[in-house]
This record gives sequence, C-alpha cells and structure tokens, in this order.
Amino acid sequence: MINDVAPFDGLGHFLYRSTAVEGLNATDLEAILTVARERNGAAGLTGCLHHEDGLFFQWLEGPAVALRPVVEAILRDTRHRDITVLNEGQLDRRRFQDWRMRFSDRDQASLLDWFATSKASTVDRGDYAGGVVAFLQALAI
Ligand SMILES: Cc1cc2nc3c(=O)[nH]c(=O)nc-3n(C[C@H](O)[C@H](O)[C@H](O)COP(=O)(O)O)c2cc1C
Repeated sequence: MINDVAPFDGLGHFLYRSTAVEGLNATDLEAILTVARERNGAAGLTGCLHHEDGLFFQWLEGPAVALRPVVEAILRDTRHRDITVLNEGQLDRRRFQDWRMRFSDRDQASLLDWFATSKASTVDRGDYAGGVVAFLQALAI
C-alpha cells in the first residue's frame, strides 16, 4: 500500500551561497572540511564547497533523509551568515559522486571571473544557480 506520508527517500540536493564571518582563516576552513568530509562520508553525502572573496558556494547531494539534518546543521552554523538558498529539491543522479566534499578557492578558479566570461554569461545569465553548478562541475572533472 502506498504510504504518502512517508518521507521522500530519493536523492536530494541543496545549493546555497553564504558569507564567511570576518576573520575566518585557513585553519577554520580545514576544521570545517575535516568534519564535513567525515560526516558526509558516514551519511552518504557528496558535493563541493567553493570559497572566494569571503563567499561560500556549496552544493550538497545524497539521500534526502540523510541530507536534511546536515543542511540544518549548516544553516545553524555561526561561521557563516546571509545564507541564500539558490536551489534545492530532488535529483535524478549525483553530480559529485567521487567527492565527500570537494574544496576549491580562487587559486583553482574564480567563479566571479568565470561569470564574466562571454560563454558563461550568454549560457547562464538569468540562471545564477545553474551558472554556479556549471562552474562547480567544471572544476570537479
Ligand atoms: C561553509 C560551511 C560548509 C559546511 N559543510 C558541511 C558539510 O558538507 N557537511 C557537514 O557535515 N558539515 C558541514 N559544515 C559543518 C556543519 O555546519 C556542522 O558544524 C557539522 O556538521 C557538525 O554538526 P553539529 O554542529 O550538529 O555537531 C559546514 C560548515 C560551514 C560553515
């Protein structure tokens, strides 16, 4: 019998942008990534985190029931603020299956510069979230 109050247990995703609190340094970032990779590995979550000019962009994906508590912890985390959800919902397949949490910063590539290039701006102008995901995926290849 179909139980329509059962929680959705397919794949879900969560994409946001936030502002790192002032003074957040490389050691703090390492600590965030260590905990993130450990917890994501245990929960079957994958994704990536990009840090640039004091901004975070993060994509998280995995079983929806496992994703929810981690997203709630991230939303409560005082190491960043002004969290803007860019996209969330169901997912047909993982985009970052090999990454418990891939990390990139301006040394690898600049999202802000990437947005300014002609290809990215013609394809993704008006679809900010789509542009962010395309950038993150291009880095993870
Ligand atoms: C920018 C940012 C990204 C984070 N990403 C993750 C993540 O991918 N997975 C994770 O488990 N915790 C992540 N965290 C840490 C969580 O906010 C939280 O501290 C951690 O999951 C421990 O949860 P707890 O505070 O409920 O014990 C992130 C924190 C920040 C500030």
